[in-house]
Amino acid sequence: MVIAKSIIPAGGLGTRFLPATKTMPKEMLPILDKPAIQYIAEEGAKSGIKTFIVITGKNKKAIEDHFDSPDTRLKDKGKEGCFESLNKVIESTNFVYIRQKEALGLGHAVWSASHLIYKEHVAIMLPDEIITGPIPAIAQLMQIAQQEKCNVVGVQEVPLDQVSKYGIIGIKKQFSPNLFQVKELVEKPSIANAPSNLALIGRYVLSPNIFTMLGESKLGVGGEIQLTDAMQNLLYSGEKVFAYKIQGNRYDIGNPLGLLKANLDFALRHEQYSGPVMEYLKNLEKDMIILEGQASRQTLVKPKSATLL
Ligand code: UTP
Repeated sequence: MVIAKSIIPAGGLGTRFLPATKTMPKEMLPILDKPAIQYIAEEGAKSGIKTFIVITGKNKKAIEDHFDSPDTRLKDKGKEGCFESLNKVIESTNFVYIRQKEALGLGHAVWSASHLIYKEHVAIMLPDEIITGPIPAIAQLMQIAQQEKCNVVGVQEVPLDQVSKYGIIGIKKQFSPNLFQVKELVEKPSIANAPSNLALIGRYVLSPNIFTMLGESKLGVGGEIQLTDAMQNLLYSGEKVFAYKIQGNRYDIGNPLGLLKANLDFALRHEQYSGPVMEYLKNLEKDMIILEGQASRQTLVKPKSATLL
């Protein structure tokens, strides 16, 4: 089984990043000096993906420009490594852009690419989840899909109080510590209704029948066409879905705090930035201790209004 195409849904409105995303795609927000979507394209290219089908929409033009050609100024700035990694993606893959007519949800975004997928399994990679590690995340799923000739979704454990933010899987069978057969998929369940704490984390390899299921889908949670519901229908139709606990560090950069944490983490692991950032954080800690001290002293002083009472 050859898996050569990956859909990158980037048609969402990114409202959690407003006003930054008023005119600019959230997929172009940087982690250090690289836009989020480039990490995804590099992951796909390293895994053997040959065609990226990027789902775009209003204000997403910058994504297309970014993958046109690597900027030679990178070399002038002594960033040969960055030049090479972007160049490798551009030279080894093709980019196709589909405009999602309306942001009707992740399922709708994926469905928008249906006319470009024939009788082949397809990878899906969400650009607001960055996963780092020795083996690219999507390659881990592609290997299982090829071996087992089935659908594979990437999962990781999340704290129970977070399950309502994710699609959660129910387990039919466990083959190894990291590999499961899926019994059911539930989008954003309450803690009481969550079949496990294994959450879908934005990497999938799915059979072409997903497009039939998406085509028949009705609006789900949040008034959107949900990919999770269509995958549940794949299960109903008798297809096997496996889940694999992806090995790697995951960064949910779909919200400002997540992006900030990813930037800090990447900076602390970066040859050039780790020293100065560590130094900065140490000073920040000192400031915080002083501020905390001031705050606790202030609470000891009776506020004026209290004396008046
Ligand atoms: P999110 O719901 O996290 O992204 O979708 P969003 O809608 O852009 O974000 P907020 O909630 O308004 O801040 C997950 C992924 O699916 C894509 C998004 O671009 C993101 O990569 N998506 C979502 C689409 O491509 N189209 C859609 O209609 C919705």
